[in-house]
Amino acid sequence: MSEVQVREAHLDEAHLILDRCDELRAISSDPEKLVRVHLSPEHTAANALVAEWMRDAGLSTWQDAAGNQCGRIEGREPGLPALLLGSHIDTVPDAGRYDGMLGVLLAISVAKRLSGADLPFALEVVAFSDEEGTRFGTALLGSRALAGTWHDDWWNLTDENGITLFEAFQDFGLDPARLPSAFRRPDQLVGYLEAHIEQGPTLDDAARSLAVVTSIAGARRFELTMIGKAGHAGGTPFDRRKDALVAASEVIITVERLSRELGVIGTVGKVEVLPGGVNVIPGEVQFSLDLRAEFDEDRDEAVRRILASAESVAARRGLHFEHSEIYRADAVVCDVDLRAAVEEGIRSTGDDDPMAFWSRAGHDGMAVVAVAPIAMLFLRCKGGVSHHPDESVRVGDVAVALDAFEATVRGLAATAS
Ligand code: GLV
Ligand code: MN
Ligand code: MN
Repeated sequence: MSEVQVREAHLDEAHLILDRCDELRAISSDPEKLVRVHLSPEHTAANALVAEWMRDAGLSTWQDAAGNQCGRIEGREPGLPALLLGSHIDTVPDAGRYDGMLGVLLAISVAKRLSGADLPFALEVVAFSDEEGTRFGTALLGSRALAGTWHDDWWNLTDENGITLFEAFQDFGLDPARLPSAFRRPDQLVGYLEAHIEQGPTLDDAARSLAVVTSIAGARRFELTMIGKAGHAGGTPFDRRKDALVAASEVIITVERLSRELGVIGTVGKVEVLPGGVNVIPGEVQFSLDLRAEFDEDRDEAVRRILASAESVAARRGLHFEHSEIYRADAVVCDVDLRAAVEEGIRSTGDDDPMAFWSRAGHDGMAVVAVAPIAMLFLRCKGGVSHHPDESVRVGDVAVALDAFEATVRGLAATAS
């Protein structure tokens, strides 16, 4: 094939990947927007479709005991430890169509390109079941199951309908008692590589397609509750009110102020006001807190100061403040050798000086690192927009990411041979 024909063939593959992202976009619990949460009927349908694509690419497939959709091609002999490639197929509410899904589809295409290659490791593709934590609050449930860092008290987590994680497993057709069969041991794994949209504007601002990730920000998430007293909006004088929403608002402003001051990233993304009457003083507010930073000490300092400030707002206003931590994942540094392989992979596409920076978003590698070294390849997304239906990628970037990803795996194979 001429160089032009090769370029066109690669663009065709990239178009196929984007078409498949559109197909997955259609598997949603809400006809108006993309919502696909852990252990839902849509999760079943997405796993089935991804499994079909895996089989088309020559992988043998299975759904593991945690609902992760897996596929494998053997290396030069059966039973070798595997290099894992993957990402997740669950979404946030009203999601974009590339966060997670694009990484799964790139991984399948890389495996297809490499099927029949004489590899010194097996290749496995994983579509993780829960990276976002949308349904049960705690994120990375799929990858934490694979990594064997599961906590049995998670079985009692409930979704917004009061369904426990234990019940959701059963409804999905999974046996909670079999969960340990999803655990992988370090000796079964060579490493984990994930391609993902950047979810920030660095690449787009620099007019670059790809970057290698240096580390992933650590995160902590909390449920916060401000408890005051409901009362009549007309009859209750200001000096007798215990308005939980006004107090929570002070805390929310503090989250932004302290995050900026300390150089961390703090977000309140969910607020529920009770009892929720237009003429009723808010008696209770439940709200979320998501805090991330490149370094865990900075994140933890922000947590301490925000919680202390919330306590003092509550005390000053005569309210009661409660908090509970629902998720914690520490910052992870990408493996030096895998990172160098990703850099080489990017170089092989003609980018002599690959950009390298840390990920502000969380990823399944934060869990997988417990059993295997990890690294990541970032692709530009338009304007850095993500967790929004406007998520957008360029087909040319997908084509070049596919080449870089394949070259990364070939480079690792050459080093390991
Ligand atoms: C996952 O997308 C996260 O960073 O919250
Ligand atoms: Mn996400
Ligand atoms: Mn993601």
